[in-house]
Amino acid sequence: MNATIIGTGSFLPAYKLTNRELSTMVETDNEWIVTRTGISERRIQKSGDVADMASNAAIKALDNAGINPKDIDLIIASTSTPDYLFPNCASIVQKITGADNAACFDISAACSGFIMALSAAKAYIEAGMFKKVLIVCSEKMSGITDWKDRSTCILFGDGAGACVIESSEHDGIKSVDLHNDGKLGGVLTAKRNENIVMNGQEVFRFAVKKVPETINTLLEKESTDVKDIKYFILHQANVRIIESVAKRLGTDMNRFPVNLSKYGNTSSASIPILLDELNRENKLHAKDLLVFAGFGAGLNWGSILVEWNCRKS
Ligand code: UT7
Repeated sequence: MNATIIGTGSFLPAYKLTNRELSTMVETDNEWIVTRTGISERRIQKSGDVADMASNAAIKALDNAGINPKDIDLIIASTSTPDYLFPNCASIVQKITGADNAACFDISAACSGFIMALSAAKAYIEAGMFKKVLIVCSEKMSGITDWKDRSTCILFGDGAGACVIESSEHDGIKSVDLHNDGKLGGVLTAKRNENIVMNGQEVFRFAVKKVPETINTLLEKESTDVKDIKYFILHQANVRIIESVAKRLGTDMNRFPVNLSKYGNTSSASIPILLDELNRENKLHAKDLLVFAGFGAGLNWGSILVEWNCRKS
């Protein structure tokens, strides 16, 4: 059996924190932020839990897939900002969505969380253990942001993205390439009850090297060419990282959708939020080849080749 994506959903909190408002909080300005990152505003969850954002995105994905929550047999939640040490976020999503027959667990893989969760869903489905898997990535980055540190507080935002994956004859999640280098972990950390501490330049250098590497490995494994890919859906961290990856892969930016101008870096939620936007804008069609690629704290990085088959698109 193969695994394929059959529905997507996302949720963004209403409050927009603009660069203009940020520049009243720290010494920065709109031009610096836009030029160096591509970000104009980010969403902030003023009240409510991470699991509430997750559940909102999950309900939309279930609806998009046309699946009854009771038919889901596994929920994988990805978050770096869980509401509780336990129960896990997936269990709270189960309670809110009524997915009563699902097993539930969370994964912690920071900005690569969606890539790890989708790989896990693929593996479980292909092993025959589960048939319908709900992945939900939800992040309240504003809760672990040092609002006095201008080098990080301009980057992050809150939000959630979700996907439903189903066992299928269609080979929708074709190939996976995953990596981690724990020796580099110190360049991007958030200790328990503390805020994000990051060496931005180190993370930048790492991302522009490793993301093209993993994509090339993935495409070679599947004998697929860069020009066969409809969209490269990258973790939305900095538009300059995405531009550099496009250049290193020898292709142009029109195959790299970008929404970070509106949402900033929503960590593991960024790829499924962008995927949901593309799906709802009818920009994805059956047989389109997509590459998802993530990178982040660990340090970790990885990519997944998908052939789109979402019946609702
Ligand atoms: O999910 C993964 C998470 N992390 C990332 O993706 C981060 C990757 N790194 C980056 O995106 C970039 O490194 C940053 C956006 C964080 C920083 O951009 P940069 O071009 O690497 O700037 P920089 O750190 O080299 O700083 C350049 C200057 C410094 O001033 P001096 O020393 O040249 O006088 C900074 O103090 O810009 C200053 N600066 C700012 N100025 C205005 C740093 N932050 C700001 C700011 N506003 N917000």
